[in-house]
Amino acid sequence: MGRYFDASWQRTMKCGQPREADAGREVVLNGWLRARRDLGGIIFIELWDKSGVTQLVFNPELNAEAHSRAGALRSEYCLAVKGKLRIRPEGTENPDIATGNVELVVSDFLVLSPSKLPPFEMDSVDEVNEDLRMKYRYLDLRRERMQDNLKKRNDITLFTRNYFAKNEFLDIETPMLTRSTPEGARDFLVPSRLNPCKFYALPQSPQLFKQLLMVGGCERYMQIVKCFRDEDLRADRQPEFTQIDLEMSYTTEEDIYKLIEGYLSGVFKEVLGIDVQTPFLRMTWKDAMDAYGSDKPDLRINMKMVDLAEVFAGGENPFAGLLANGGTIKGLRLEGGSALSRKDLTVLEDRAKKLGAAGMANFQVKDGELKGPLVKFLNETQIAKLYELSEIKEGDALFIMADADWQKACTILGQMRLEIARERGLVEEGFKFLWVTEFPLLEWSDEENRWMAMHHPFTAPFDEDMQYLFTEPGKVRSRAYDVVLNGTEIGGGSIRIHDPKMQEEVFKALNFTPEAARERFDFFLEGLSYGTPPHGGLAFGLDRLVMIMCGCKSIRDVMAFPKNQKAQCPLAFAPSSVDDAQLQELSIRTDELLG
Ligand code: AMO
Repeated sequence: MGRYFDASWQRTMKCGQPREADAGREVVLNGWLRARRDLGGIIFIELWDKSGVTQLVFNPELNAEAHSRAGALRSEYCLAVKGKLRIRPEGTENPDIATGNVELVVSDFLVLSPSKLPPFEMDSVDEVNEDLRMKYRYLDLRRERMQDNLKKRNDITLFTRNYFAKNEFLDIETPMLTRSTPEGARDFLVPSRLNPCKFYALPQSPQLFKQLLMVGGCERYMQIVKCFRDEDLRADRQPEFTQIDLEMSYTTEEDIYKLIEGYLSGVFKEVLGIDVQTPFLRMTWKDAMDAYGSDKPDLRINMKMVDLAEVFAGGENPFAGLLANGGTIKGLRLEGGSALSRKDLTVLEDRAKKLGAAGMANFQVKDGELKGPLVKFLNETQIAKLYELSEIKEGDALFIMADADWQKACTILGQMRLEIARERGLVEEGFKFLWVTEFPLLEWSDEENRWMAMHHPFTAPFDEDMQYLFTEPGKVRSRAYDVVLNGTEIGGGSIRIHDPKMQEEVFKALNFTPEAARERFDFFLEGLSYGTPPHGGLAFGLDRLVMIMCGCKSIRDVMAFPKNQKAQCPLAFAPSSVDDAQLQELSIRTDELLG
């Protein structure tokens, strides 16, 4: 009998496959020892592979030799086992697993590879420190949940390629070593040995190249592509992430909405078996901010903000002055909120203050009466208006946010809406998609002291708003659109500027001097000047889409080898120092860099 792994030890079944009908079959299984129990001289072992687990039985009365060797087996040993499947004795079945009615009585086994003691319990890793999970990612991946996530990710990318291929998109690769594109984050730079003191930038997205592919007559481009952004990390942000990137010539917003709705409803049906209703709801950026205080509203939460200017305008109330000067007052109704105590309300107000609010007043309706510190300032008509606009009723609370700045009032109350709903379990199950449209083209940056592109500088403005580009830049709407799912921006895109003159104007509005624009984008402007077809596109964050479809809270759980919150890879210890010799070749002096 061979004691090495050869064909005789190759599995004839996967660990998740045995069923009652297989009882009596002689089989070989390969896998890892997941759990063991010694019961009255009999050893039970769960053997795991990514398909599931089978219970192994080592019975000294049936096979003393195998039983005596089994005593030395430990967690995560990699094994090949031979034996006969049998139906489990009555009362010992495990209805929780697919193989729970059968077990394998082991006749012989081979240790393919022993394992060191794993640094965490394999079936309780969710509670384990995430850095430890990442350091031993290969063990973390040896779990059903992570395997399911990787499988779903695979199924999603497979569907994606097929869908866009069927719609005549060509998969075209664009360079990883390129120059900076302005997506708003910092670049990762790569020094060039052959061009001393010069740097490539890793792409923040293939934006410029995909547009040049349209100039190049490719008409429909797609790519599942790594993008790199040096920005602060969050649960849905990684320094290197994957986009499903698309661009089409001779297109309009309507074509793109239809194509994307077809794609998303298709992928949900194929991978999750879920019917998604199309067309998706559409909402302008202004309406989204007004009603939800966010450009990515979570519509699973059935709470909307309302404008209460009509209630507080005029009279003696503390907000009348603010309103007279163009300020904003928003209200948010919380059903059942009259049960909140004084203390609860103060805690909530303190949290709003931490978000930058001056305060968060409230009303409650108790015993048929409106209560709250502001009631005394309102007359009967105003109170009636308050009831009418906010739709509060017996048992409710109403939170009030006032600020001189419309966007600030909306954003803070919108954030409170999310937090309150999450804490009180008011987020419904399911998937709520929407398009957010008509974003402002530009937003003011205090930090940079200039107008910045809200999406990127290649986004087309509404023609009729161009007149405001230099007089009231904040008023110009763009032909950009985001796809939002359950409060996450899963994709974004726009109709692009295809006229080089308009592109130069927009660069000017962004305060790029003609020289700076030329320096960075000359090749692009030159490209646009050779008969560019009208075009537009979109990019999905694949990781975010997969995260939501897998029911995960972080994109790290749907990436095989993610970075931690400090942008480090705890597994490979990247980033790391490098040899002086390597740096010298690149004309980089470490002494200055390392200080
Ligand atoms: P945008 O910058 O909106 O658009 O990116 C597109 C989508 O990519 C995802 N995403 C991220 N996912 C994980 N980690 C990150 N750091 C990260 N940053 C972005 C989001 C986002 O919606 N070139 C344009 C697209 C276009 O106009 O066609 C672009 O990159 O889900």
